[in-house]
Amino acid sequence: MTPPHQFDALGVGAGGAGLMAALLCSMTVKSSAVISKLYPTRSHTGTAQGGVAAPLGNMEEDNWEWYMYDTVKGGDYLVDQDAAEVLAKESIDAVIELEHMGLPFDRTPDGKIEQRRFGGHTRNFGEAPVMRSCKAADRTGHMILQTLYQQCIKQNVQFFDEYQVIDLIVEDNVCRGVVAIQILTGEVHVFHSKATLLAIGGFGRVWSVTSNAHSLTGDTVATVYRHGLPLEDMEFFQFHPTGIYKMGVLLSEALRGEGAVFVNDKGERFMERYAPTMKDLASRDVCSRCIYLEVREGRGIKGKDYVFIDATPATINKYKSGPGGREVTAEHLEHALPDVFEMARIYLGVEPLTEGIPIQPTAHYAMGGIPTDLQTRVLADASGAIVTGLYAAGECACVSVHGANRLGTNSLVDLIVFGRRGGKAMAEFVTQAAYAPLPPNP
Ligand code: FUM
Repeated sequence: MTPPHQFDALGVGAGGAGLMAALLCSMTVKSSAVISKLYPTRSHTGTAQGGVAAPLGNMEEDNWEWYMYDTVKGGDYLVDQDAAEVLAKESIDAVIELEHMGLPFDRTPDGKIEQRRFGGHTRNFGEAPVMRSCKAADRTGHMILQTLYQQCIKQNVQFFDEYQVIDLIVEDNVCRGVVAIQILTGEVHVFHSKATLLAIGGFGRVWSVTSNAHSLTGDTVATVYRHGLPLEDMEFFQFHPTGIYKMGVLLSEALRGEGAVFVNDKGERFMERYAPTMKDLASRDVCSRCIYLEVREGRGIKGKDYVFIDATPATINKYKSGPGGREVTAEHLEHALPDVFEMARIYLGVEPLTEGIPIQPTAHYAMGGIPTDLQTRVLADASGAIVTGLYAAGECACVSVHGANRLGTNSLVDLIVFGRRGGKAMAEFVTQAAYAPLPPNP
């Protein structure tokens, strides 16, 4: 075994939350590092396509109260409302910060960040859809990863790529670091730290049809559990309505933001029946359930267990479902949804400008995980006691901001808002804490 590495602050996971925390922390602390199973820019944040919400009001009136209301309602009123308030308020600064770091957001003609509609995001407490999602085409997560990784490199954050964490070092309720295996060599490494933040993503691979990458097995969440620490809301798992039929690969909800509609075997736009106000822009749990009901009642395409998402300009213009009811053109859709259209063409051999795309709900997001407080400190029990030096943020964490169902775009907001909070909290902690000693080597 190599001698232990020592870092004031350690991140496990190099997705949006891990990188944001490392970046914030590195501005204050002497030494910080990130351990990742993957090369950082291959992290799963890169697959979040359609955008990151913030009530900037660049396209139409919006405010944080409306956004907070949508988040609480979208989560079936099981959201912790203080967390939703933090998310809705701090999303604005977090997105502007990303813009200043150089993230190439789409722009309005007058140079502001362009925004699009997403499921469950409304104006005036549910009155009608609102354009709140800040986007870089349908590659928003990818752009966030690239931007944050570059900033971390600039800040001299040290990266240990392709290292698999196999245990936490927790004694007397104090986290002292982690044990990891370097995947290439099989060598065991000990990382000694004052503060450790877990940002290891979700565990969608427990499902057979999922949008999640093969790395999302939940192994580190299980490690936390093996240490006798609690997990929260594990029964809340989100199904995204537009997974590629049979494969589960995600086709962004940005499709619906741009006006695409669900269609059954009878050619009906069936969401009009189930959600007359929001229609195809109802939240994900609602749309997924309605697809299931259509299939169960024999209205799946050719009697099978899928329906179409129809993004053809002909259908969008027929229903006037484009942004703001405007006419859309093939050129606009190609520009707004390049990756989604490419995936439909490559994986399904379907031409999305003239044909419906076969989709089925796909396991997408774990609302539950490692319980934390608003500073991302990991909770040791239901009384609110914390595990000293241990933090968690992003999908693996449960600050309970998504309740029983997360709104689309709110994962990226969660990553940047709570990643930022985690980085600041760790920096504050390590400046006044000493290294807790490592246990003796057995
Ligand atoms: O549909 C999407 O673009 C996914 C975004 C998300 O899960 O928030």
